[in-house]
Amino acid sequence: MQNTIDTIYDRRSVRKYIDKEVNPDLVDEILRAAMFAPSGCNKQPWHFVVFNDKELIKEIKAMHPYASALATAPVCIMVCGDTQKEMAQGFYQVDCSAAIENMILAAKALGLDTCWMGIYPWEDTMAAFTKRFNLPENVKPFALISVGYSEAKQERPRRYDASRIHYNKW
Ligand SMILES: Cc1cc2nc3c(=O)[nH]c(=O)nc-3n(C[C@H](O)[C@H](O)[C@H](O)COP(=O)(O)O)c2cc1C
Repeated sequence: MQNTIDTIYDRRSVRKYIDKEVNPDLVDEILRAAMFAPSGCNKQPWHFVVFNDKELIKEIKAMHPYASALATAPVCIMVCGDTQKEMAQGFYQVDCSAAIENMILAAKALGLDTCWMGIYPWEDTMAAFTKRFNLPENVKPFALISVGYSEAKQERPRRYDASRIHYNKW
């Protein structure tokens, strides 16, 4: 397992996976990491729908305009926010994002790669997922996370930008 800082720098969005199953225990570990994320008032307003059925993942790919990662991903996790559990309106999106960051970093630490594909705030896409999976009124589809193994070596980009950092004044 990588150290945390290397995991952060080495994680990349991966859209092509090799043909290798992901052990359900690893998926469980990723979801456990999600649930350890901070959330407003510790409300944990999230749900996770795990897809590991190839045909279903194919169908989901067709429902999302930018889901090329699902062409080869063996696992896809739909992260949903619960408006009845969030601390106040507007919090589920922030809390689910924190959970997702934990997921994609945990996956990387476990030797897996991921891609975060937004559903929110695209209203048409949210409506399509709500309808297809019969989500209750209070459960909002937020994002899809592809999970799988990749053999491609990802280079670390250069992203540190000192001009974005402001000390003591703007
Ligand atoms: C809110 C959000 C939505 C995203 N939606 C998509 C998407 O629909 N499809 C996709 O392939 N990647 C998506 N991405 C991944 C970004 O394209 C990617 O994080 C960005 O290009 C930086 O690359 P990196 O993740 O490899 O560092 C999304 C990322 C975020 C945070």
